[in-house]
Amino acid sequence: MRRGKRLALLLSIFAIFTLVMTGCEEPDRTVFSPKGEAGEGSLDVIMLSIYIMTFVVAVVLAIFIYVLIRYRQKPGDNSIPKQVEGSMKLEMLWTVIPIILLAILAVPTLTHTFSLAEEAPKDEDPLRVKVTAHQYWWEFEYPDLGIKTAQQLHIPTDEKVYLELTSDDVIHAFWVPELAGKQDLNPGSTNKMWIDADEPGTYEGRCAELCGAGHALMNFQVVAQEKEDFDKWVEKRKNPSSEPKTAEQKAGKEVFTQNCMSCHAIDGTQMKTKGEKAPNLTGFAERNKIAGLLENNDENLEKWMKHPEQVKPGTYMPSFDFLSDEDMDNLKAYLQSLE
Ligand code: CUA
Repeated sequence: MRRGKRLALLLSIFAIFTLVMTGCEEPDRTVFSPKGEAGEGSLDVIMLSIYIMTFVVAVVLAIFIYVLIRYRQKPGDNSIPKQVEGSMKLEMLWTVIPIILLAILAVPTLTHTFSLAEEAPKDEDPLRVKVTAHQYWWEFEYPDLGIKTAQQLHIPTDEKVYLELTSDDVIHAFWVPELAGKQDLNPGSTNKMWIDADEPGTYEGRCAELCGAGHALMNFQVVAQEKEDFDKWVEKRKNPSSEPKTAEQKAGKEVFTQNCMSCHAIDGTQMKTKGEKAPNLTGFAERNKIAGLLENNDENLEKWMKHPEQVKPGTYMPSFDFLSDEDMDNLKAYLQSLE
């Protein structure tokens, strides 16, 4: 009975451990199913280290079990076994083997890391994106295209996209498990890396460096599109439809001008100032997430605007729960009309 109880306890500890180690996130957010060249290269390095570790564990375990059985104490035999302390041969052996294993691991790791940081080729007109991390959101600027957006990075498929990463405040890290990462974003300097995706889709990104209260919710998405669709998106971003059409949207734009404009910018409008402190909201209606993590719908939009602190702790977005129901509805209507 006691043995049964102990086994049950052991099994439950093991179950909890497995749950914690594997996490509860969707299975597609994993480095084990890369969707591009950069991700595949990283997986190769990860697999190599797993093979080496497995090999070491297997060899050590085999020797351990062999010694346990072969040299166990036999009845009537109390002799001391041969002492090997200070054996030059053994010392050399277990110093040289790890050095060799580390060298095998280091060469492909360094090669891959340096290849990810390669410069954008000057002659081919590569796509460059300046990524700026803020507490707790992401800004994506396409300097050659004259586009600035936030939270959702659009890239064309089958093409290397060269990122220039920096931070506006503290250290963050850019990580898209299926595509690439992790690369730090440091204030005052620029790190470089390229990413690519070989199939269209929306890939989840995370901040991978503890950066404050909202760190765990500093999510973003990479939207990979066929070249044709990407070009259409670029055209749309260059000529956004940001002017209100209905009476409701017009009233909503008024609310926006009075309350949001000093922090948020919307391109393609006749507004006097352009907020730079918070995400650019051009084309907001087409984003699939609000604040990088909530499904984009009216209910969540209201929740975010009224109680941002509950959604993302530490956010600089102030609460707008003082707006009347009518103003709130109009503001939502305006934001959801931005394409
Ligand atoms: Cu930004 Cu963690």
